[in-house]
Amino acid sequence: MKVLIVYYSWSGNTRRVAETIREVVGGDLVELVPEDAYPKSYKETVEQAKREIKAGFKPPLKAKIERIEDYDVVFVGSPNWWGTIAPPVATFLSQHDLSGKIVVPFCTHGGGGKQRVIETIKNMCPKSKILLELAVSGDGGKDLKEKVERWWQTLKTHI
Ligand SMILES: Cc1cc2nc3c(=O)[nH]c(=O)nc-3n(C[C@H](O)[C@H](O)[C@H](O)COP(=O)(O)O)c2cc1C
Repeated sequence: MKVLIVYYSWSGNTRRVAETIREVVGGDLVELVPEDAYPKSYKETVEQAKREIKAGFKPPLKAKIERIEDYDVVFVGSPNWWGTIAPPVATFLSQHDLSGKIVVPFCTHGGGGKQRVIETIKNMCPKSKILLELAVSGDGGKDLKEKVERWWQTLKTHI
């Protein structure tokens, strides 16, 4: 089983979760980097994200993932932005064909929970087998590694 862990992170929380998944599960870790970085300011990023999500804008990414067809399992991670996935994750999902693969969503949020994050990933991967997600608040806290290990124990039985 070849595993890919792909994520976008603006302030580092989703990166931390992705890196922890990499430690526990193994596989290749890829950060999605938009060609034009989001502003440094939280307020400006929130406003820009609102406009982009409303318009369905998919920001170009610096790189396309090579040989996506080689992977069997793809973990897809996003922060919750306005109740849904961050636009760079939407770009990734629209540019790569994950048909027939196992897709495992994960997200971080600021207290609102997963809202429509997982549902959106599912809708964008209609021909993938979607497994149970992991959603954590903020950076997942001190016991993130234990959370990821417990989650992985359950997931493993479906892979
Ligand atoms: C543009 C933007 C929109 C956000 N919208 C939500 C939201 O609707 N609900 C929520 O719970 N958190 C929201 N947050 C908080 C982030 O989901 C949370 O801080 C997340 O852990 C950030 O992940 P990151 O550090 O990987 O960027 C938002 C943050 C940003 C920057």
